[in-house]
Amino acid sequence: MSTLFLKRFLRSPFRVASIVPSSKTLIRKVSDKMDHRIPRVIAEYGPGEGCHTREIARRMHPKSHLLLFEIDSELCTFLGRQFASNPRISVHNVDCARLPEVLSKKGMPHCDYVVSGIPFSILEKARKKEILDRTYDMLVPEAHSAFIIYQVTNELRTRGHCDHFARAESEYCLRNMPPMFVTKFFKTKGDKPVNGHTRNGHPVAAGNGTNGAR
Ligand SMILES: C[S@@+](CC[C@H](N)C(=O)[O-])C[C@H]1O[C@@H](n2cnc3c(N)ncnc32)[C@H](O)[C@@H]1O
Repeated sequence: MSTLFLKRFLRSPFRVASIVPSSKTLIRKVSDKMDHRIPRVIAEYGPGEGCHTREIARRMHPKSHLLLFEIDSELCTFLGRQFASNPRISVHNVDCARLPEVLSKKGMPHCDYVVSGIPFSILEKARKKEILDRTYDMLVPEAHSAFIIYQVTNELRTRGHCDHFARAESEYCLRNMPPMFVTKFFKTKGDKPVNGHTRNGHPVAAGNGTNGAR
């Protein structure tokens, strides 16, 4: 698997941006940031050969959906074969900016988590903004809902690219080649459900109060 990853890096070094897949420690730290006790819709940007995907798939609720966005078609073929037996994992050989369109085609109004390994730091400002705005818009406005990134720099947080998110938590993972920041950007401020939405992001039926289905 690492050989395929290295081959794809040599073919598109800026897009793949890493010679080796994430370490076990980084994978665990990223997966720990999601609550898998109930069904979730999770999008993963830049799964590569699927190291984070395998861990998320192992932990997620049996009724969760995991949508993979990978622009490298050879990696997509590999991912498609790897997860062929799991109908809850779908592989999309498209740019991650197309999240709204893919969710809409699947009849999913929102997602609960977006996990990203794409190299944001090399993207120009307008591209960053496009992806970040669409990601924010598609996250359900509830307390658990978050955009989780692992990056060499923490510039999405420190340079204010994600200031539209309500709050952020970061940690540093030294046990990775190279070491990375793991940052979780929350869609909402606190631990209260957002009025008008259920736990799964569907609007609450009229007359059903303001606290959703919690
Ligand atoms: C640094 S690698 C991360 C791979 C894997 N997630 C890991 O942790 O080892 C980045 C991946 O993002 C993909 N990628 C880059 N830009 C993308 C975009 N705009 N949309 C979807 N995938 C993208 C690349 O093809 C590559 O597989």
